[in-house]
Amino acid sequence: MAGTGSRRWVKILVGTLVGVLLLCTGGASFGTWFWTRSAVNTTGEVDFVNPLAIPPLAESRIDDKGRRVFDLRAQTGHRTFGPDGATPTWGYNGDYLGPTLRATRGEQVMVNVVNGVGEPTSVHWHGMHLPAAMDGGPHQMVRPGATWSPHWTINQPAASLWYHPHLHGETERHVYRGLAGMFILDDEVSAGLALPRRYGVDDIPVIVQDRNFDSDGRFDAGRGLFGGIGVLGDTLLVNGTVGPYLEVGTERVRLRLLNGSTARTYQFGFADNRDFALIGTDGGLLTAPYRTGRIRLSPGERAEIVVTVRAGERAVLRSYPPEQGLDFFNQRFSGSDDRFDVLELRAAATLAPAPEVPDRLAPIERLDPASAAATRTFTMAGHDINDHDMDLGRIDFAVTRDTTEIWEITKPDGSPHSFHVHDVQFQVLSVAGREPPPELRGWKDTVLLERQRPIRIIARFADHADPNMPYMYHCHLLYHEDQGMMGQFVVVEPGQQPGRPPAGDHHHN
Ligand code: C2O
Ligand code: CU
Ligand code: CU
Repeated sequence: MAGTGSRRWVKILVGTLVGVLLLCTGGASFGTWFWTRSAVNTTGEVDFVNPLAIPPLAESRIDDKGRRVFDLRAQTGHRTFGPDGATPTWGYNGDYLGPTLRATRGEQVMVNVVNGVGEPTSVHWHGMHLPAAMDGGPHQMVRPGATWSPHWTINQPAASLWYHPHLHGETERHVYRGLAGMFILDDEVSAGLALPRRYGVDDIPVIVQDRNFDSDGRFDAGRGLFGGIGVLGDTLLVNGTVGPYLEVGTERVRLRLLNGSTARTYQFGFADNRDFALIGTDGGLLTAPYRTGRIRLSPGERAEIVVTVRAGERAVLRSYPPEQGLDFFNQRFSGSDDRFDVLELRAAATLAPAPEVPDRLAPIERLDPASAAATRTFTMAGHDINDHDMDLGRIDFAVTRDTTEIWEITKPDGSPHSFHVHDVQFQVLSVAGREPPPELRGWKDTVLLERQRPIRIIARFADHADPNMPYMYHCHLLYHEDQGMMGQFVVVEPGQQPGRPPAGDHHHN
């Protein structure tokens, strides 16, 4: 992008000059140079000139077995993000990102996934409870030109889930190219609540991604200096739109925030620090709205918020420096000093009335720690989990069907890491031995870890036993995941031994 590209060059030039000056004044200042150079701040600098793109709702049909059938084709294309011309991209049923899939609890769904990108990929349904063979992880590789048609029954609360590639070693690259989309679930509870629900009108998907562009307008996937967490971009895309604004015609708008970035953690809030109602987290609605001015989302996490606007105003959604308890080096080089303008809400001169956010949202039955059949510990450090690198041929452990387990996850190192588990939504029992904060009291599938603050989670593995086909758990910083910060578990029948993952579909590079 012209603006972004030249801004970057100016930054680098200025950084170099400052660096040379500092070098002349002593080696100790060399660090100061990197320090000054690498924080991004776009607040007040973004021109909100582009209407926010709204991913279309995916079309579907009901087949003769009563299943709702979607078609998703991963394909290559070009998208013009800014004045620098077309960027080569990947998308589902289009050039960049994919349509929003939507289904209701109790429905059977099937998705025909066609791979048109010319190399193997996969599609994983992040946050979905479903059989491991349908999960779209690294064992469900879709070869170029092939079609994969997973099907399952939706059996979980209304939520904002998403889908993205999950081929081992390639996830970061495929997501960075543009493969991702939202998967919204509805249920009777959500249908009965007075929440904004008109898709694209007052119920808006907000997929936030950071990108770097090279001087030809291509995505620059280079990790750069101290790129230990992966690619950090200096330009934000929201639903693929640079500098986005959204016309709001109602007093309240629901934003389904999805951090679709590969490495970056955001701390969302408004420029004027107004409060909003947090109504949902990864796996569903909270029991009650939580009024706050900030919500932190690490890669893969979602939050549903309801924002109140006044007629005629403009409100800017920002990302503030996320607090995650890092030392100063890791703080700076993981983008945790960066600030962004994300999206401008433009309220119409007259607004249609919208009801107050209900005091009670969805019931959440608390899982009882006393009922846990097993407790496991996970240490996330370097690019390993419990000192192991990912091995597609190794099943790390087996969980018995219809049992509840407690998992305790610790991060001893200084790098940012998160923990994501497939198949289930979990509840956070404690963070560093204490009650979790309100934003961690609903259903979660991904959680950011803080150094030496163990997180205890509890989950129920209700069904879908398959001794041979594993589910994944991993750090959702996609570079770390690709580097092997991932493990595999199977769900087995009582007394059953874990089997072997299918051979022959392993993609090594
Ligand atoms: Cu969002 Cu295992 O992934
Ligand atoms: Cu997932
Ligand atoms: Cu990590």
